[in-house]
Amino acid sequence: MTTIPTTSTTAVTDLSKDQAKQELAWLADTLAQANTEYHKQDAPRLSDAEYDAYKQRNHALEVQFPDLKRSDSPSDTVGAAPAEGFGKITHAQRMMSLGNAFTDEDVNDFETRVRKFLGLTYNAPLSFTAEPKIDGLSLSLRYENGKLVYAATRGDGTTGENVTQNARTIADIPENLSGAPDIFEVRGEVYMSASDFEALNTRQTAADAKTFANPRNAAAGSLRQLDANITKARPLRFFAYAWGEISAPFAKTQSDAIATLAKFGFQTNPLTATCHSAEALLSHYRTIEEQRATLGYDIDGVVYKVDDLNFQKRLGFRSTTPRWAIAHKFPAELAWTRLDDIEIQVGRTGALSPVARLSPVTVGGVVVSNATLHNEDYIAGRGGDGEPIRDGRDIRIGDWVQIYRAGDVIPKIKDVDLTKRPADAAPFIFPTTCPECQSPAIREDGDAVHRCTGGLICPAQAVERLKHFVGRAAFDIEGLGAKQVEQFYTDGWITTPADIFTLRDRYGSGMQQLKNREGWGDKSAEKLFAAIDDKRAISLKRFLFSLGIRHMGDAGASLIANHFGDWDSLETQLTTAKIGEGATWDSLLSIDGVGAVMATSLITAFQNDAERASIDKLAAELTIADAVQVGNVDSPVAGKTVVFSGTLERMSRAEAKARAETLGAKVSGSVSAKTDLLVAGPGAGSKATKAASLGVETIDEDAWLAMIEGL
Ligand code: IVH
Repeated sequence: MTTIPTTSTTAVTDLSKDQAKQELAWLADTLAQANTEYHKQDAPRLSDAEYDAYKQRNHALEVQFPDLKRSDSPSDTVGAAPAEGFGKITHAQRMMSLGNAFTDEDVNDFETRVRKFLGLTYNAPLSFTAEPKIDGLSLSLRYENGKLVYAATRGDGTTGENVTQNARTIADIPENLSGAPDIFEVRGEVYMSASDFEALNTRQTAADAKTFANPRNAAAGSLRQLDANITKARPLRFFAYAWGEISAPFAKTQSDAIATLAKFGFQTNPLTATCHSAEALLSHYRTIEEQRATLGYDIDGVVYKVDDLNFQKRLGFRSTTPRWAIAHKFPAELAWTRLDDIEIQVGRTGALSPVARLSPVTVGGVVVSNATLHNEDYIAGRGGDGEPIRDGRDIRIGDWVQIYRAGDVIPKIKDVDLTKRPADAAPFIFPTTCPECQSPAIREDGDAVHRCTGGLICPAQAVERLKHFVGRAAFDIEGLGAKQVEQFYTDGWITTPADIFTLRDRYGSGMQQLKNREGWGDKSAEKLFAAIDDKRAISLKRFLFSLGIRHMGDAGASLIANHFGDWDSLETQLTTAKIGEGATWDSLLSIDGVGAVMATSLITAFQNDAERASIDKLAAELTIADAVQVGNVDSPVAGKTVVFSGTLERMSRAEAKARAETLGAKVSGSVSAKTDLLVAGPGAGSKATKAASLGVETIDEDAWLAMIEGL
């Protein structure tokens, strides 16, 4: 059994760097182990829903803390490295995974994203295919001149296992194809039917052999038999649904491709439909869901793919998943348990987060004892716009609550059973004072969250900020982690970040105090002060990020630092900036990726007396280096700052941006002296004028396309 670490009940936005780092490490470990169990040992402990939930949590953490992304990030890993015993095969084209959708809204968003990327208006024709997501294991079959030359499992997406001999025993896999391109890689899913699975387990029991937990494991175990005779004795099946390397195009649409695969003799799923809207996709999802129990094989969702293959090509891939497809998963498991208590946690930005302490319950193989309760309204049965949720039923300590885990590793409460409510259960009264510092906790108009107004006097906020400050993407001071910061704070040695840099002055001669502490000796004390000195020179971006300003993560800090370039201009301009008007405001909003919320938060932080005093005290201890921009790829725009302006007629902004970034360019929203290239469509207006006055090279869309053609 796996127990979820307690940090995972915290919203990612409220995590300190250190917590996030720990959680990312835990997730990398857990997911790697799950991958091994799933792909190599065919004995998973995590359910698919849990696995997805962890992956999503990992993704959310990486978005919030991009600098903490690990080199072994589960986001960049498709499966497990191949098991020993089989020869390895490097896939001619990487075998990708699919992004997930869990709600109708996710599906609508998928359609919107695709349209936006392709620059299609809402009513321009756009078709998709929808087909069951088979719960088996993927296999790549390579045919050369019509003959099966090898079959390889997915492995880690790049290299898989050579299971050709075993694949040849599967009746659904043709040995020869007629009419296929010379090189033709067919991809699909190997699975075992429910009845064959039952029969296999009965045989295994009779033979006193290992039984399988589910058809997927049975299929995986059977395909990965080193003795092909065993595989042959186990009825495996195969659905074809995709392809890898092909020497010539063989279809114009996904539906044509599937029809052609069927003509070549492959089994394709009969529930595959072509749909012309997100609504139609959802309706087909429901049709498939209704038939799920009677299909005779396991499926765990519905896969949607953009039908037009030219569109697929333009949409391309993110690191491990296509932009043109998504898996709409069936809902995760549910469980009932008792809500023992509601605790309030205070985060770095002062947000009060209610956490449900639950009588431990197993939800799909994982013991859950915490769940998020989001905020006051959520507990009271009100949604974000005041609309009732759970039909308006509130949640009280002592209630029986239904837990679910889907799409997010933080377990949530779906429902409450009023028939089991204890007679003395009282409505939960959300605290209006901070449990840590007793300052008023205020809920502003339009905000769902209560925030402690104690600022730096609130120990919870102060400590969380300090932890953020010393975190890896911020000052990253060796020997000064979350644990030490907490200790120093408790002892009154450090209350704000600047105190870290005056520590030696204040305790210098009497370094004795540090040296005498448990866990600290001569050497470690010296080392700590040296490590602190080492960070007196810091980049503008890190400095800005380390301040822990609400709504400004690593990416935001980077944009702001690059925009202002140096500390003096940043500080001078933000001191006089006005929220909602004026030159600084306009220039902030012109940064692609910076919105009104971040801009407001930034200006507010720089103009709040206490905050500003703390920032200035810190800045006085440091040398803040100017922002420098770098590029890496070998292309005419590598390392260049490119701005798109005006109407692009041949691709959307998103597509243009994705292409430019793939080619190593940095895409910015505004023209400045640092801009290298302006791609100006009709209506480029003031940006074109500014570019001209700054002498920035300006080209039109056609010239841009010519420049990147063939890259
Ligand atoms: S398409 C580039 N279609 O789900 C995308 N995958 O979670 C290629 N799967 O690795 C995959 N049924 O093993 C696709 N109808 C289907 C599928 C399907 C099952 C599996 C496949 C894939 C995984 C992604």
